[in-house]
Amino acid sequence: MGIVDNKILFTVVEDGSKQIIETYIGEYQNLMALLKDKLYLDDFGECGGVGRCATCIIKTNGISGKSTIKDRNEPVTLSKMGYGDAFTRLSCQLLITKDLEGSVIEILTF
Ligand code: FES
Repeated sequence: MGIVDNKILFTVVEDGSKQIIETYIGEYQNLMALLKDKLYLDDFGECGGVGRCATCIIKTNGISGKSTIKDRNEPVTLSKMGYGDAFTRLSCQLLITKDLEGSVIEILTF
């Protein structure tokens, strides 16, 4: 795949302001790492991506493919926090793939 095919664009909403993020497949280990780096988020992703700390919660809209499936620790961690819906997710459990193309990712702040 060429660099053009690898390109991924999606929207991030933080504190009511929107920005378009451009990345490429595999640029970061996961979406939590991307958001923490590109948006300079403090106190985000504290467990380093194991899926247990719940400090990387996002609201997703428009993700596709395998990324819509919650697996490993994700469903349990989210339901402990009271989130059972399909849109609220742990960003550390989402990989940087084409599944994110065109989606809207909202950072949930506590
Ligand atoms: S970084 Fe800890 S649950 Fe995602």
